[in-house]
Amino acid sequence: MKEADVESQFDTAVAAYEHSVEEMPFREHIEAYSVFRAVGGVTGRDVLDLGCGSGAYVRRLRHEGAARVVGVDESTAMVEYARRREEHEKLGVEYLAADVSDISDASGSTSLASTAFAGQFDVVTAVYVLPYAPTQAALAAFCTTARRALCERGGRFVAAILNPAFAPDPQYYRPYGMRLSAPRPRREGAPGHMTAWIGEEVLDVDFFCWSAAAHEQALRAAGFDHISWIRPEVSEKGREEYGEDHWAAYLSCPHALIIQADAGPRAEPSTPRTD
Ligand SMILES: C[S@@+](CC[C@H](N)C(=O)[O-])C[C@H]1O[C@@H](n2cnc3c(N)ncnc32)[C@H](O)[C@@H]1O
Repeated sequence: MKEADVESQFDTAVAAYEHSVEEMPFREHIEAYSVFRAVGGVTGRDVLDLGCGSGAYVRRLRHEGAARVVGVDESTAMVEYARRREEHEKLGVEYLAADVSDISDASGSTSLASTAFAGQFDVVTAVYVLPYAPTQAALAAFCTTARRALCERGGRFVAAILNPAFAPDPQYYRPYGMRLSAPRPRREGAPGHMTAWIGEEVLDVDFFCWSAAAHEQALRAAGFDHISWIRPEVSEKGREEYGEDHWAAYLSCPHALIIQADAGPRAEPSTPRTD
């Protein structure tokens, strides 16, 4: 399979993303805690992480006991960094540079969904990736890639997405290191902007606003039949280290929500009757 070579707004954000887990406590104590609860245990399971960035979740999934973990990202800079780390750490994880919204399945296609990883995983994760779908078709394609990657008996897709009802005040998330803005009213696919202050670095990225209905439509069209929306929670450790008050504003209007989408076994192709 030929690797993607596209320019991404994330190409220059490798260091910022790499440090964000330590520098932004909500990533560990709320986001990762909630994502792993939604995944529900990975020991011995095969996991595909879409939009893996610098590989934070890929490495973590492997440490948590996943058997095989593959990270995919369209940013070659992110994937190169993640691979360099893997050369040293030798966790046995794999990375691929590819556009996960490419679902073309014409014969001879090199798309991720139709070739390399189709039908091989028990779990697919995508942490803050769906907000970068520029169109509804791309949103649906992300979900189709996730569904096709799941094995014959089905499995689970867990996505951390931008809360469609994130706080309208751009400064609301400032105590958590972010500034989020989008035009109002937030029509489907409206562009928004995030600035994040991560230690010495400042990260600026554009995203797209999608409603809960748009996400559900994309997931159902892809074949997910059981969809749960989960509000993030804070870990015990996070409460102990920072105190309840620190998290109160975030938890009352979190900037992200978790989607847990399950798909059952693939329908057997019907056998023609002979009688
Ligand atoms: C906000 S970062 C999150 C990275 C990582 N999941 C994390 O939580 O640290 C979003 C990532 O999604 C990737 N991405 C966005 N659109 C993509 C696409 N169509 N195909 C593959 N990766 C994509 C970006 O390159 C970026 O690394």
